[in-house]
Amino acid sequence: MDLQLSGQVAVVVGGARGMGRAIAEAFLAEGCSAVVLDRDLEGEGEALLGSVSLVADATDLAAMRGAEAEIRRRFGRCDHVVYAAAVGSGKFGMPFWNLEPADWEQVVRVNLLGAVNTAHAFAPNLAAARTGTLLFLASVAGQIGSPTDPPYSASKAGLINFAQCAAKDLASSGVRVNTLCPGMVKTALNRSVYDAWAARVPAAERLSYEAWSAEKIHRLVPLGRWQDADDIAAMAVFLASPRAKNVTGQTINVDGGYVMHW
Ligand SMILES: NC(=O)c1ccc[n+]([C@@H]2O[C@H](COP(=O)([O-])OP(=O)(O)OC[C@H]3O[C@@H](n4cnc5c(N)ncnc54)[C@H](O)[C@@H]3O)[C@@H](O)[C@H]2O)c1
Repeated sequence: MDLQLSGQVAVVVGGARGMGRAIAEAFLAEGCSAVVLDRDLEGEGEALLGSVSLVADATDLAAMRGAEAEIRRRFGRCDHVVYAAAVGSGKFGMPFWNLEPADWEQVVRVNLLGAVNTAHAFAPNLAAARTGTLLFLASVAGQIGSPTDPPYSASKAGLINFAQCAAKDLASSGVRVNTLCPGMVKTALNRSVYDAWAARVPAAERLSYEAWSAEKIHRLVPLGRWQDADDIAAMAVFLASPRAKNVTGQTINVDGGYVMHW
């Protein structure tokens, strides 16, 4: 299927690792120029072949505005913006008072305010061009009050709502805004949820990462399997494409059926 994205420019914030990286690769495969923007390009985050890398922290509005200007200087355009950066608290949140209110600050700063900064930096020129898309990676946790990490869940719920506001504001400019919610994808972030759980339970009750995730998937995911980063990337490029020209303000779950709304 030709997604008609060839020649366009996509930036993926949090694109050095995990799903962001897979999304940047998918844009490259569609013939786009891909910009990987991340606060950390070391180690596993090293440059993706064929992409342009920029170091910036999404929590820094001036840095995000600078990155937007740099992309326009290099390419003369920026068509698609994906926000895939996120962090967890690193603590197990059941009950919620296992965390301190102070544990919320960095999670909300990255997951919600980083996305808001990204929108502020990129939306004006998308609107001026009267085309393009914004996509925020949220989570099923933002739709079901998942108690595992309350600041993470709440930040994702806020992100879903902000995306709807932005979708309404930008619709008359022809810019589409959506939220993509992965289910269970084997990344460093997913592993950190297990690590926080394992640190809380007595050794006798502790499961391996594989056993813990298999039990969770069996209990919660109707299709009974992990989601792959490539599954998320396939939906991301589809949502950027004219094939999705009537899709805006939506929360799209690629989660094996974990969340079902009716
Ligand atoms: N892995 C899962 O099971 C899962 C499930 C549901 C939702 N998600 C969501 O999917 C998205 C991608 O998650 P992932 O699992 O690929 O994560 P990851 O930890 O593998 O990658 C996140 C990337 O974001 C970057 N980053 C973090 N803070 C940043 C900041 N302030 N500025 C710029 N870059 C920053 C990191 O350096 C990293 O490269 C996130 O929004 C996450 O919440 C993940």
